[in-house]
Amino acid sequence: MALGDPAKPVHVLFVGAGAVGCFYASRLHHPSHNIYTSLTARSNYSVIATSGVTLQTHTFGNYTFHPHAVFPSVSAATLSSAAGSSETQAPKDGWDYIVVTTKALPDRSDESSLIAPLVSPKTCIVLIQNGVGVEGPYRQRFPHHPIVSAVTIVSAEQTQPGTIRQNRWTRMSLGPYGTGLTGNGSNPTKEVEEVLRRGDECMKALTHWWTTHGGIRDVEPHTEIELQTIRWHKLCINAAFNPSSVMSGGRGNADQLSDPELREHILGIMHEIWDAAPKVLGAPLPEGLATPEKIVKSTERNTGAKPSMLLDWEAGRPMELEVILGNPVRIARRLGVEMPRLQSLYALLRSMQRVREERGEKGKL
Ligand SMILES: NC(=O)c1ccc[n+]([C@@H]2O[C@H](COP(=O)([O-])OP(=O)(O)OC[C@H]3O[C@@H](n4cnc5c(N)ncnc54)[C@H](OP(=O)(O)O)[C@@H]3O)[C@@H](O)[C@H]2O)c1
Ligand SMILES: *[C@@H]1O[C@H](CO)[C@@H](O)[C@H](O)[C@H]1NC(C)=O
Ligand SMILES: *[C@@H]1O[C@H](CO)[C@@H](O)[C@H](O)[C@H]1NC(C)=O
Ligand SMILES: *[C@@H]1O[C@H](CO)[C@@H](O)[C@H](O)[C@H]1NC(C)=O
Repeated sequence: MALGDPAKPVHVLFVGAGAVGCFYASRLHHPSHNIYTSLTARSNYSVIATSGVTLQTHTFGNYTFHPHAVFPSVSAATLSSAAGSSETQAPKDGWDYIVVTTKALPDRSDESSLIAPLVSPKTCIVLIQNGVGVEGPYRQRFPHHPIVSAVTIVSAEQTQPGTIRQNRWTRMSLGPYGTGLTGNGSNPTKEVEEVLRRGDECMKALTHWWTTHGGIRDVEPHTEIELQTIRWHKLCINAAFNPSSVMSGGRGNADQLSDPELREHILGIMHEIWDAAPKVLGAPLPEGLATPEKIVKSTERNTGAKPSMLLDWEAGRPMELEVILGNPVRIARRLGVEMPRLQSLYALLRSMQRVREERGEKGKL
């Protein structure tokens, strides 16, 4: 396992100090092991800069996280932003890891260009975001940088500025990202092999730190194809319940399942993804994955929870429509696979969002 030189400090910058970012950053920061974690915040910069992040967690109790440094913007975390000043807390020889934990909104902003000034030759890029196809813009902009793709099932929220509540679960699955599907039987080129090898090293180091120092038992390393399979499988949940919670008038997941027509609709979406995924991934889904019927059964017990997309819609924030609906529809279509249920949800929700924004109601652009 390549953990580098233990005497050499490792500098990690989280971009996006929200629920997921603050929770995982707080479990990675271990100065006694020479691992220094910093945050770039936005609206909640001043709270975090003054008092740190308050964490109320189900798994680790309550504690305050004082990051190594907090920056009010991404550009403030570049070395050049402090040229002429000795004040900067950006590491002199660049960031070892940039971890992106913003909402994935490729229709609003291109975070790959946002982070570009932070990326040095040694930087490993880590993406902890929902959906599929989130890695594409990063791979295009940084063809030779290691990328680690990550999926988490944590349930966490920012309850007030600088206060993060983790309600339950900690599991995160990680995988190196080459070009998307390496490992499905095709032979990667030498260049892709190298970028995967470095991604694999970063993944193993992060897994080790989060597990042994951070105490998160279920951080799990995977191959590229395994991780993409996990992303498509998680879509069965996210693409079914999240959009439908908005379009059904604001109903939670278990509540939707109590309505027979909605239940049929939810299962229909899950089966559509279940059938498309092996064609996209070039391999059958591994045995042992929770089937749509199993997912529905376990969701029925989880009453009261509102999906994040519904919370975003109700707060007038943009929804993660592209990575949860648009990308899967386009990726499958390129391979000749249509996903009509997903396509309908995509078209309707995108329109709802656009109309509301054009009327200037709530939604911010
Ligand atoms: N929360 C969960 O339980 C959960 C579970 C599984 C997966 N996920 C996924 O994890 C990802 C992150 O979700 P989240 O719940 O952590 O979202 P969140 O709480 O809304 O956090 C996103 C953060 O990113 C910040 N941000 C966005 N653009 C920025 C920029 N240009 N510069 C600096 N900061 C910026 C936002 O700042 P502002 O406050 O200024 O907008 C916000 O603090 C999403 O893809 C989500 O689907 C979340
Ligand atoms: C953590 O803080 C919350 C909110 O103040 C409180 O309700 C909870 O009991 C605390 N948990 C522990 C383990 O102290
Ligand atoms: C961040 O702080 C602002 C005001 O300080 C607040 O309105 C906003 O809801 C906070 N953001 C989150 C995600 O809690
Ligand atoms: C494997 O993935 C490549 C893309 O990396 C794709 O072109 C190829 O069709 C896939 N193989 C199979 C058997 O699906």
